[in-house]
Amino acid sequence: MNNIIEVKNLCFSYDDKEFIKDLSFMIEKNSYTCIVGSNGSGKTTLLKLISGLLEYKDGQIYIDDILFSNENMGLIRKKIGVIFQNPDNQYVGTTLKDDIIFGLENHGVEPSKMYDIIREVSDLCGVSDLLSKEPYAMSGGQKQKGAIAGVLALNPEILILDEATSMLDPVSKREFKENILKLKKEKNLTIISITHDLDETLKADKVIVLDKGKIVYDGDKEGFYNLDVKRYNLRLPKIIEIQKFLHYSSLVYNEEDFLKKLGDYFGN
Ligand SMILES: Nc1ncnc2c1ncn2[C@@H]1O[C@H](COP(=O)(O)OP(=O)(O)OP(=O)(O)O)[C@@H](O)[C@H]1O
Ligand SMILES: [Mg+2]
Repeated sequence: MNNIIEVKNLCFSYDDKEFIKDLSFMIEKNSYTCIVGSNGSGKTTLLKLISGLLEYKDGQIYIDDILFSNENMGLIRKKIGVIFQNPDNQYVGTTLKDDIIFGLENHGVEPSKMYDIIREVSDLCGVSDLLSKEPYAMSGGQKQKGAIAGVLALNPEILILDEATSMLDPVSKREFKENILKLKKEKNLTIISITHDLDETLKADKVIVLDKGKIVYDGDKEGFYNLDVKRYNLRLPKIIEIQKFLHYSSLVYNEEDFLKKLGDYFGN
């Protein structure tokens, strides 16, 4: 197996109170993982630990076989792109275009290559007509899309999204998810999506459930859909709930197959 992230016996405390204790998991290269859990379960904390924004107390984190350490931090940060819960914290440039350029400069990208990169990511994220906008004059969803464009411009190997589509309208959300899956394939991207939208798990290779700073499930979506998730304050996707209600022995994971199966069930 080719793991791009390995977390071993991770411990972390807030204000001397141990919150994450002995947490271990692995993420395979080029996979799509959803991390789910109720408010305060530790998702953002874990994201900050993996991306080097918080320092852990005990344990090890390996990114692409490189152990986290001060000397390796620059190398590791180039491999990971993070899109945070609140897009306001992500802007440094005066306009969206300046902001993307700032990131590219920091990564040592040649100015001659910037134009093509900016065009590609802004098309992909639907922000081509927002490039000259100042962040304060953008809506929440526009800022979120712009932040995603800025991170993708840096060509990360691992993309971590912390509720990154929460402010997008349904059409933009769907487009973004389709684009991300396309990107995953084309650029061999590994995606970790922290999400409250459990429909996302339908596309995932792996689901991790956090509860009070602990992993309570780590496995494929089939196993996840068999959990009693209510005890973690979660709800399964509607199409899974309906299939379970109808006692289907094998589950389908996309709407088209689901509707077909439902049609068969009712004899159409
Ligand atoms: N800077 C901090 N100092 C002290 N405690 C913190 C700090 N940041 C978070 N916490 C606590 O750690 C716990 C986990 O917070 P975290 O932000 O990781 O949760 P989350 O799963 O991302 O929640 P949400 O779904 O609301 O985003 C919470 O109990 C929170 O109060
Ligand atoms: Mg959070």
